[in-house]
Amino acid sequence: IGHHIIYFDSIKSTNTYAKEIAHETPHGVVIIGNEQTEGRGRMGRGWTSPKGKGIFMSIILKPQIPPTEGAKMTQIAAAATCLGIRSITSLDVLIKWPNDVIINGKKVCGILTEMSGELNQVAYIIVGIGINVNTEEFPEDLREKGTSLLIEGKKHYSRKEMIVAILNEFEKLYQDYIKSGSLQSTIEICKKYSAMLGKEIRIIQGNKETIAKAVDITEEGLLKIAQEGGKEDLVFSGEVSVRGK
Ligand code: BTN
Repeated sequence: IGHHIIYFDSIKSTNTYAKEIAHETPHGVVIIGNEQTEGRGRMGRGWTSPKGKGIFMSIILKPQIPPTEGAKMTQIAAAATCLGIRSITSLDVLIKWPNDVIINGKKVCGILTEMSGELNQVAYIIVGIGINVNTEEFPEDLREKGTSLLIEGKKHYSRKEMIVAILNEFEKLYQDYIKSGSLQSTIEICKKYSAMLGKEIRIIQGNKETIAKAVDITEEGLLKIAQEGGKEDLVFSGEVSVRGK
């Protein structure tokens, strides 16, 4: 993964581009943008991608797995990003299940996983990773929720070094999953650095809101919650936040 990198000084969105070329592109190719003019986030939101400040990259994967397993790539990416940033900074980087990497309760990284394929076999999976690295400040509406490594660590970090570290971690966890068929090593990291386990969280799915305690992350990468009275449930995705935030 990452032996072949396609780099753009400016691109609309690395995920959009990766989707356009995925069918003719081999497994493991990585698209990197120095800036994105139409960066995309989850739920149809945008992703602010200022030139030279962040990491905006998409990994093209072609695993032999059904689409139902695709969300596992998001867990691998979250774990790899958390470890990669930790190896270069001394910041307390945590994972907010399922998609975000946070510092001091604020988001530094978002992950957007997109795929295409048949019922029992994916054609490709695009894992898009956006990290606020050397962003000096955020527009007012994002200031409360978003942060950067520069703001938290009070210094500039090499994006190149960080990309290498993250792709190395990703490769290890990905190979481990493909060889063993189990997400165990990824889940261990997701649990160790979880921002949610043991906390009261709020889950918003459609227009349903549930307050519950996050008790575990399963081998499959699902969040186990306990509601009042002890009733346990598994959460697949949706919007999850620590209560009060
Ligand atoms: C989120 O909403 O948290 C996900 C943000 C994902 C942003 C990354 S940046 C690289 C890739 N290209 C995109 O257009 N989006 C993802």
